Amino acid sequence: MATKEVVTRVWIEEGCIVCDACEAACPEVFQVTEDSCIIRPAAMAAEFNKPLTGSIRDAAEECPVDVIKFETMMAEVSDEAPTAADPPAEPASAKVPAAVPAKPKPAAAAKKADKPAAKSAAAALTDDETDPAIAALLRAAATRGGNAGILRSGDIDSDEWRRTAAAQLPPDARQAKLVEAAKKASKDPDAGRRTVAGGAALAVGWVAFGTGLGVSIGPAFGRFMMPNVLEEPDPRIRIGPKKRYLEMAVGEVNEDYKPQGIWMIRLDDRIAALNIICTHLGCIPNWLPNDKKYKCPCHGSGYTFDGINFEGPTPRPLERFKILEEGGIVVVDKSKKYQHELGQWDQKDSFLPV
Ligand code: SF4
Ligand code: FES
Repeated sequence: MATKEVVTRVWIEEGCIVCDACEAACPEVFQVTEDSCIIRPAAMAAEFNKPLTGSIRDAAEECPVDVIKFETMMAEVSDEAPTAADPPAEPASAKVPAAVPAKPKPAAAAKKADKPAAKSAAAALTDDETDPAIAALLRAAATRGGNAGILRSGDIDSDEWRRTAAAQLPPDARQAKLVEAAKKASKDPDAGRRTVAGGAALAVGWVAFGTGLGVSIGPAFGRFMMPNVLEEPDPRIRIGPKKRYLEMAVGEVNEDYKPQGIWMIRLDDRIAALNIICTHLGCIPNWLPNDKKYKCPCHGSGYTFDGINFEGPTPRPLERFKILEEGGIVVVDKSKKYQHELGQWDQKDSFLPV
């Protein structure tokens, strides 16, 4: 039996920009959702993580904003099935926990040096160079139908996040800031050679030149090729027949429309549409059916199934959207919100009676 350094605990700190890199490197541990990245429940156990040490390290190295952290310890492992990614064995002091911050090892640092793209997202906002984080964000937004921009642009209440340094923001607000920076960069005439938009414009311009169509269509077509991540969706969303929601049990939460920013809930005498945005700083909580609560991954705020805050730093309950029925179909209007602390949850259109 050899002794090796293995990962026993892994977590994600604030600042995730939802780029998907960690899940690609280690899908057993990381799960990227529409708006955040979480550690899968199974990976809360040290024994689960140990054999995945190599890919967890890879994920941490691939993370463009270095928010993946882990602890390691020395442990005995079988000689028969070493993994290529495992670090070399060190003199044994077996099973002595070593709380090692997940900073790149020398080899990892060299790997990063080969990847100038791996720089901080915050720095990118003031840097003329192409920011891999923005590129990753745009890719992610494009593959998710633009949700990265849609969810944030309408739901962050004030301009506070625009004035705050990106590094200080929670993931979702940071994401909105990065989208805005990317949009601004795409309008900069000098950005053509250094941004995603510029790359597309340049490439298309050459194609146009080669085919005799003229380079003049390049920029226009390049813009056409840009993912339109800040397009606002229609605030009125049809979410299916009312019957579907009447059949829910009291206390049940329907997450079918979470990608559109809505949790449908069933109370004794009504159904209501909850806004999924955490009222602390705008992250997206997770619904935990076993605990019957929403839990925000950013700073730990918790809400009961009907949206009442009961733990963590959030100062107020989740908001509810306007809800109405049209020909037996439930329609949620996200342009109108109702706040419990203002006594608005009993107002007309803040719920549908059952
Ligand atoms: S930013 Fe880091 S933690 Fe977030 S999805 Fe990308 S790799 Fe994972
Ligand atoms: S954003 Fe801070 S707890 Fe949700």
